[in-house]
Amino acid sequence: MNTLLVANPKGGSGKTTLAINLAVMLATQGSNVRLLDLDRQRSATNWLVQRPADLPVVWPYEPDNKSATKAGWLIIDSPAGLHGKTLSRAIKLAQHIVVPIGSSAFDIGASTEFLHTLKEEKAIRKQRVSIGMVGMRISPRTRAAQQLETFLTGHDFPLIGVLQDTQAYVNASFEGKGVFDLPPRITLREREQWRALGEWLTPKNHA
Ligand SMILES: Nc1ncnc2c1ncn2[C@@H]1O[C@H](COP(=O)(O)OP(=O)(O)OP(=O)(O)O)[C@@H](O)[C@H]1O
Ligand SMILES: [Mg+2]
Repeated sequence: MNTLLVANPKGGSGKTTLAINLAVMLATQGSNVRLLDLDRQRSATNWLVQRPADLPVVWPYEPDNKSATKAGWLIIDSPAGLHGKTLSRAIKLAQHIVVPIGSSAFDIGASTEFLHTLKEEKAIRKQRVSIGMVGMRISPRTRAAQQLETFLTGHDFPLIGVLQDTQAYVNASFEGKGVFDLPPRITLREREQWRALGEWLTPKNHA
């Protein structure tokens, strides 16, 4: 099973939005997808409960269930404030870590230390984990977008996506959906913005 952790201790950076949309994208591509919610706020769990039965299935992760070890993806949504041993434990579970980063000065500032922690962890694990950053909730042609771009290009990890601020994410999540569940004609831009992320997850990029 491929395990992907979505993490950034900064509250509201877009972890749950990214985790549920990743789960939907992979399920839409035919993968067996499980979702593990480490957050006591249970946002991802509540989203999953609402998910319509006729859409590509995202399973809740149940450790005792034999099918939990089947091939496919385990997507882990993590809480704000994750640090110390709990963070290290979550990192050790994963082969892929995706870090959503918002564009405000506060988001950029708060993410710096986390990226440093990940860099050390990656060195300890001798490259056995792939780490990518995603710009979240970006309004194009703003100072914030520019600042984030400068920040992200100065880091060791690849920038694997820039997702614009759009109501498609907000509206979809009200109904247990992701943007890939919405009609393509109204989500062309969003789908295009996910392309690099999808490519980064394909096995050849992790040889
Ligand atoms: N690309 C986007 N466009 C518009 N709104 C977005 C986008 N990404 C996230 N949001 C909104 O931003 C808010 C914060 O996102 P989200 O809940 O995913 O962050 P989080 O990191 O999981 O927060 P927490 O740290 O509390 O768990 C939510 O209201 C979500 O709907
Ligand atoms: Mg969350």
